[in-house]
Amino acid sequence: MIVEARDLRKSYNGVQAVDGLTLEIREGEIYGLLGPNGSGKTTTILILLGLTEPTGGEVRVCGFNPTREPLKVKRLVGYLPENVGFYEDLTARENLRFIARLNGIPDRESKKRIEEVLEQVGLSEVADRPVGTYSRGMRQRLGIADVLIKQPRLAILDEPTTGIDPEGASQILDMIVRMRDERGMTIMLSSHLLHQVQRICDRVGIMHRGQLVAEGSVDELGARTSGEGLELEAQVVGAGPELIAALEALAGVREVKAEGERLLIRCEEDVRGAIARTVVEHGAELLELRRRSFTLEEIYLRYFQE
Ligand SMILES: Nc1ncnc2c1ncn2[C@@H]1O[C@H](COP(=O)(O)OP(=O)(O)O)[C@@H](O)[C@H]1O
Ligand SMILES: [Mg+2]
Repeated sequence: MIVEARDLRKSYNGVQAVDGLTLEIREGEIYGLLGPNGSGKTTTILILLGLTEPTGGEVRVCGFNPTREPLKVKRLVGYLPENVGFYEDLTARENLRFIARLNGIPDRESKKRIEEVLEQVGLSEVADRPVGTYSRGMRQRLGIADVLIKQPRLAILDEPTTGIDPEGASQILDMIVRMRDERGMTIMLSSHLLHQVQRICDRVGIMHRGQLVAEGSVDELGARTSGEGLELEAQVVGAGPELIAALEALAGVREVKAEGERLLIRCEEDVRGAIARTVVEHGAELLELRRRSFTLEEIYLRYFQE
């Protein structure tokens, strides 16, 4: 385990920002801490980094207690804050050299590393421009370069794609995957943009009012969302009440809901064969039939509706 937090609590004059959070992140995972604004993600991150002290609970990051051994944790953990700050008059290359020196990396060694990470985040061409002229997307990429320079074991990224256009966000997500695949880093990222990050996370934890209300892979959460059994989705042209009744009468089918051409079929087991036959026998046209998968957004909504 790279991160172990048990019953973590943090209150700010009466406001319970983190309220009994238990969290485990394994080596090599990309873990997404998700939840709406104000749900306690940033506070949790600050506790893990030793930048704020919890009012209760226990934390270990890379085996160390961040409150008692903050320097050890800082050496092993890279952090991209929500609003990353750089020296605006310095160029990207100069900013990185400054960061490398702060981290005790000799110039001889950092020179090569800086060129490598600039290349990796796609900023080589603009590395001699003052950071003051950078867009938000470019700043975020420089923030990732800053994390990479340190070569940490764990990278914690707070809302890395917020405020960036979809293409830029997608590039950042690809970079995050490469950090894990090529450098073996463990990644924890926070986001309130569920659909954006779901494609890269091995596991996600959903936060609400300082608590983790659901956790697992997106598939696992989807299975839990659909309850027992499974859901199928069909696109059928010419589905009348008779066909719906016939489908509902099939063994293993619990419920059929029609929304225009789309049929949502809740069943006990995968009865796609019988459904396909029934549709065709009734003279309707079957355009598509598949097991339904859920987006995080749907999982999230259903969770809170319940
Ligand atoms: N320094 C602070 N002082 C007082 N309240 C805070 C402070 N930081 C966060 N909070 C409150 O704690 C709650 C969780 O905030 P935060 O951890 O920033 O959530 P998120 O990152 O999920 O948006 C919010 O209600 C917020 O207003
Ligand atoms: Mg936040």
